[in-house]
Amino acid sequence: MSTHKRVLLLHGPNLQLLGRREPEIYGTTTLDQINEMLRARAADSAIDLIAFQSNHEGDLVDKIGEHFGNIDGVLINPAAYTHTSVAIRDALSALNVPVIEIHLSNVAARESFRHHSFVAPIAVGVIAGFGVNSYRLALDAMIGLLSDGSPH
Ligand code: DQA
Repeated sequence: MSTHKRVLLLHGPNLQLLGRREPEIYGTTTLDQINEMLRARAADSAIDLIAFQSNHEGDLVDKIGEHFGNIDGVLINPAAYTHTSVAIRDALSALNVPVIEIHLSNVAARESFRHHSFVAPIAVGVIAGFGVNSYRLALDAMIGLLSDGSPH
């Protein structure tokens, strides 16, 4: 049996366009590059990373539900669903594993409709505003959580 931990890396709507979409806000790194970078970093810590992107709320809910009981943590950039989706929040909450919310941009410094997150209250923490490094920092935080249970 593998001793590897398993972490789900979820990307919400429009993130398939990363690298081309509003690069002044979201940078020039593509989603594939982010997934690859994180997969390699996770593997160094004996973590299997399962990446998934969807533009559809129900598909994200389905994917989260599929991992009930067989995942150790979730890294998620819910994108626009951050600000709208009770369903994604409830699905994540049901898993009962650490969740870290990620944003490339500093959502707090943007339009007021981006200031509220349905996911943040059930997350261990939120990392926003560091571009691609938000993902790296979130993975490092997850590695810490999975090794000693501490968010620090
Ligand atoms: C985002 C911020 C959201 O407000 C927005 O809808 C996105 C991307 C980010 O990573 O900065 O699509 O989650």
